[in-house]
Amino acid sequence: MTLLTRHRHPRMQAFSRALMRETQIRPADFIYPVFIQEAEGTTPIPTLPGISRFGGKALLEHIAEASARGLQAVALFPEVPARQKSDDCREAWNADNLIGRTLKAIKDHVPDLGLVCDVALDPYNPTGQDGYISATGEIENDRTVEALVKQALCLAHAGADVIAPSDMMDGRIGAIRAALEGEGFANTILLSYAAKYASALYGPFRDAIGSSDALKGDKKSYQMDPANRAEALREIQSDLNEGADWIMVKPGHTYLDIIREAKSAFEVPTFAYHVSGEYAMWAFAAEAGALDRKTSIQEILLSCKRAGADGILTYAAFEVADWL
Ligand code: PBG
Repeated sequence: MTLLTRHRHPRMQAFSRALMRETQIRPADFIYPVFIQEAEGTTPIPTLPGISRFGGKALLEHIAEASARGLQAVALFPEVPARQKSDDCREAWNADNLIGRTLKAIKDHVPDLGLVCDVALDPYNPTGQDGYISATGEIENDRTVEALVKQALCLAHAGADVIAPSDMMDGRIGAIRAALEGEGFANTILLSYAAKYASALYGPFRDAIGSSDALKGDKKSYQMDPANRAEALREIQSDLNEGADWIMVKPGHTYLDIIREAKSAFEVPTFAYHVSGEYAMWAFAAEAGALDRKTSIQEILLSCKRAGADGILTYAAFEVADWL
């Protein structure tokens, strides 16, 4: 048989496979989400095997180790004690709150690390919702945006490098951008959770920040329907028009088609959030011996980059960075 095209030839040896490799993952591609708690020490999160909340000295040590492994950015998520949750969510813009104190401590300890902070009311809201709810049970979009602006400014003052609104209210990117400009934070990066779906894959995250029990109802009136594609492009377009620097697709691994479309359509820095439920699926399967721990997660994260993500938020970052 005479074949003119043989695809297998260059797959024969490691050197030629390496030369042809189109996509790679590096520690610098990751944003590592870290859960923080008021109390010193660590608390394992049962629904996220291998992941804990950290507080005080243990947190600073963990962050320093993450940096030593080559990670260049972390995203911080506070577990807020119930007594600090209130209907107006005012703890979110208390300059001395847990996240504010943590930002300052990390900046002193590991100054070069990029610090990413979520903007949304859920950790501070007794309802577990990302926005205010009216007496008739509806999200109050514009009133929520005013609160998000206060939260974002508070985070910028405390040292956040990247402000990442995850709330999906309309108009929040423009309002936050204008407020940051107004207060001298023109260089703060805005990473919009632009295409965020009302996903069933956020459960372990809500356990980790302690909002699972609080959450009443669902988030379908603001997060997107998992069935929709074109709507994601409209959301992203709006956020770019309003001044977002970077955009995110969330979840990531189950929404690779959206990542690819977003990247192709806009050619802006695009991030995938490999969310808690996606992490948990892998971690439990690996623990059970159903998957090879190292190669399976690297393939999953590679798929996000191949789809078009420039960077990936993943709880596996700490472990994977050690292997790379
Ligand atoms: C809060 C927020 C959520 C996540 C990130 N920011 C949960 C939610 O929207 O209910 C989920 C992240 C994950 O599951 O890993 N607005």
